[in-house]
Amino acid sequence: MKGYKITTLNEYIIRRQADYPYAKGELTRLLYNIGVAAKVVTKKVNKAGLVDILGNIGNVNVQGEDVMKLDVFANESFISSMKASGECCGIASEENQEIVTFDDGLSRDANYIMCVDPLDGSSNIDVNVSIGTIFSIYRRISPRGSKAEAADFMQAGNKQVAAGYVIYGSSTMLVYTTGNGVAGFTLDPSIGEFCLSNHNIKTPEKGKIYSINEGNYSHFPEGIKKFIKYCQESDPDTKRPYTSRYIGSLVADFHRNLLKGGIFLYPPTLKAPQGKLRLIYECNPISFISEQAGGKSVTGEERVLDIVPQDLHQRIPFYTGSKNMVEKVEQFLGES
Ligand code: AHG
Ligand code: MN
Ligand code: MN
Repeated sequence: MKGYKITTLNEYIIRRQADYPYAKGELTRLLYNIGVAAKVVTKKVNKAGLVDILGNIGNVNVQGEDVMKLDVFANESFISSMKASGECCGIASEENQEIVTFDDGLSRDANYIMCVDPLDGSSNIDVNVSIGTIFSIYRRISPRGSKAEAADFMQAGNKQVAAGYVIYGSSTMLVYTTGNGVAGFTLDPSIGEFCLSNHNIKTPEKGKIYSINEGNYSHFPEGIKKFIKYCQESDPDTKRPYTSRYIGSLVADFHRNLLKGGIFLYPPTLKAPQGKLRLIYECNPISFISEQAGGKSVTGEERVLDIVPQDLHQRIPFYTGSKNMVEKVEQFLGES
């Protein structure tokens, strides 16, 4: 029988630790714990359709357990797995108004903080469409041995030491970067391990997919309207018209475009005049991955990773993906 050699996520992160001679394994343990939480959430996501059968949300199920909403469950899973790692002194989550600090001795000495969107694409839970988790890791700036402080979470995205996402799709995948390229792992449910499936992911420089909620068209800035029309025009040289794809889960839309080449856009709208997506939970980690894969991420005015956050839950206009398409957006926005 022909055997095959797999590289598990845990093996991979331990091997990569050797690339950083001064690394003490702290980040390795943190990433390992993210993998554990991702597996726990995967189990729950796979059962989401059974919630109404086993017990309604907010009720008690047949086993007498409380049935938690999936986003609350994902939030608690990531928080408790970060606490258990002992390498994280605090977490900012899209689901919590304030930062959560871990106050035990081990965590106070930890060097890292995490920002997380535990359940991205929540409107897709009920309809069995891909959802995700987005995370980002920073080195703390407050002294070790003390509680994490707000300033630890208000660092520009270019200070991220690791970032990634989990996509709960037809398979569960974990994609991450530590600033040295992007790697993707697919969960093999039969052995319960994330296995290396996508080495050194590079996004095509010339994309052909555009992803935007066109329902908001009439409220888009003039440059974005022009870009959409540009995508729809015929031109054999630039392979237009381009293809439109929109799921409504940032993780899933971004992941597809990362592999196939394309752009994701969330401009300012009437309902969300600053844009809808959140800088520290969504845009920064996705931008780190995008740039590491050879793509580009901007607000239309500046590079996303250079923004110093003013507010934990700050929102920004967001354009990310293949260089040719992001630069076209910048050109149209500049001209308007
Ligand atoms: P979340 O579920 O974490 O609140 O994020 C939803 C976000 C993002 O995943 C997606 O790209 C966007 O909202 C979709 O927004 P519209 O429904 O306005 O298109
Ligand atoms: Mn989200
Ligand atoms: Mn969310």
